[in-house]
Amino acid sequence: MEWWRNAAIYQVYPRSFADGNGDGIGDLTGLRTRLPHIANLGVDAIWLCPWYPSPWKDGGYDVSDYRDIDPLFGTLAEAEKLIGEAHDLGLRVIIDIVPNHCSDQHPWFRNDLRGRFHFRQSETPPNDWRSRFGGSAWTQLEPGAWYLHLYAAEQPDLNWDNPVVRQEFRDILRFWLDRGVDGFRIDVADGLVKDFTKPDADAPYSDQDSVHEIYRDWRRIADEYDDRVLVGEMWLPDPERFARYLRPDELHTAFNFDFLCCPWDATAFRQVIDATIAAHAPVDAPPTWVLSNHDVTRHVTRYGRENTGFSFADRQHGVPTDRAKGVRRARAAIMLAAALPGGLYVYQGEELGLWEVEDLPDELREDPVWHRSGFTDRGRDGCRVPIPWGDNEKTWLPQPSEWQALSVAAQTGESESMLSHYQRVLQHRKELTGDLTWLELGEDVLAFRRDEFTCVVNFSSRAISLPGTAFLTSTEVEGGQLPPDAAAWIN
Ligand code: NOJ
Repeated sequence: MEWWRNAAIYQVYPRSFADGNGDGIGDLTGLRTRLPHIANLGVDAIWLCPWYPSPWKDGGYDVSDYRDIDPLFGTLAEAEKLIGEAHDLGLRVIIDIVPNHCSDQHPWFRNDLRGRFHFRQSETPPNDWRSRFGGSAWTQLEPGAWYLHLYAAEQPDLNWDNPVVRQEFRDILRFWLDRGVDGFRIDVADGLVKDFTKPDADAPYSDQDSVHEIYRDWRRIADEYDDRVLVGEMWLPDPERFARYLRPDELHTAFNFDFLCCPWDATAFRQVIDATIAAHAPVDAPPTWVLSNHDVTRHVTRYGRENTGFSFADRQHGVPTDRAKGVRRARAAIMLAAALPGGLYVYQGEELGLWEVEDLPDELREDPVWHRSGFTDRGRDGCRVPIPWGDNEKTWLPQPSEWQALSVAAQTGESESMLSHYQRVLQHRKELTGDLTWLELGEDVLAFRRDEFTCVVNFSSRAISLPGTAFLTSTEVEGGQLPPDAAAWIN
């Protein structure tokens, strides 16, 4: 079977993963020494958020050179070593590629090559498109000369109607494929093509039909190599439109954000799971299951709130959360996500049970969302705080003091820890096979079989009787009674 069809992939945000030189910032040396932590979890691959040279106006998603490594992290030579070392540990390496926009410090923008961007002459902003980080999507380079940026002003959108842009990205893909990367996570995969002739209300900067040509082209390139994979980041409301990106000659997989956004509710999860499987089947693509990433509130915090869903429109910053409940649910949630057929993503730190850090001093915030929202949305820094290893590190965003108890050192070998739980879940996950069949075990209970295996998740507020003896549970189970907010795996 193709490895990516059921892979568990660990997401690394390099700046906040492991610091090898003591400057408080994660780097490649740190990551290389900590690769065994990732391999011991039992995942198949890592996905690295951008590691390219960047002015860091959007967490590295403002790339100024697509063929090098930011000096903050190390060198290209070290990156090549890292790829080799990961492979030696049995881990594939997927890197982020950011084709929708580059940094305003990229040589193309600095050298005023306007045809490679979207420039318009006008007295006022050419249209009403909004930046996804707040404010207008247009900024003037000089009076009357506006350029488009769907994100921060320091991230001018590239013009994919220009063949030079297309050729450049073909070359960038080959540059990294030749260096051994196993694939790409494509940032804003739905956004590359813009149709300025359509009305603003149609959102003609997202999911335009002709974007698919680009991925057919990229797929041909990936297929020139062995086993390489293209993973799309698309936040699209319609599962059928989403699945079009996963047709056999386009991307291999994509992130399932409906699952990530889903509130802690049996009916809602069942709907999302059914809709996901139904949308993926016709294109023969594997679904994926995602609980967290570097853009969203960590799920320990979400699941402990009254409103457990996620939405960018209101990330509920500071809304009270019951952390113990969030942790209980997170232990059950990974058992749900890992039991489902398809791929799985694990965001660094979730294996430690980290929560969203909501009390960062505002002056330390780096996410452009904070200032572009007119200081109303505190943005994504709280899920990007460096993860604790247990050596009392000083980090670029400060860790809560309670995190020392959650450090990798503190949790290693402790059988009840979240880390040990993730290790068990991910090890057993490798044995799962077969399609999903729902079982009816009562209201607010999700239960399904895959071949001989059964997964039960109790979303209700009462204990339920398990239909067999569990070999793995998210919490202690006595007398075959699964408590609320808990999961069990049965063979
Ligand atoms: C999605 C990335 O995950 C996010 O971090 C980034 O800000 C935007 N795309 C823009 O590149």
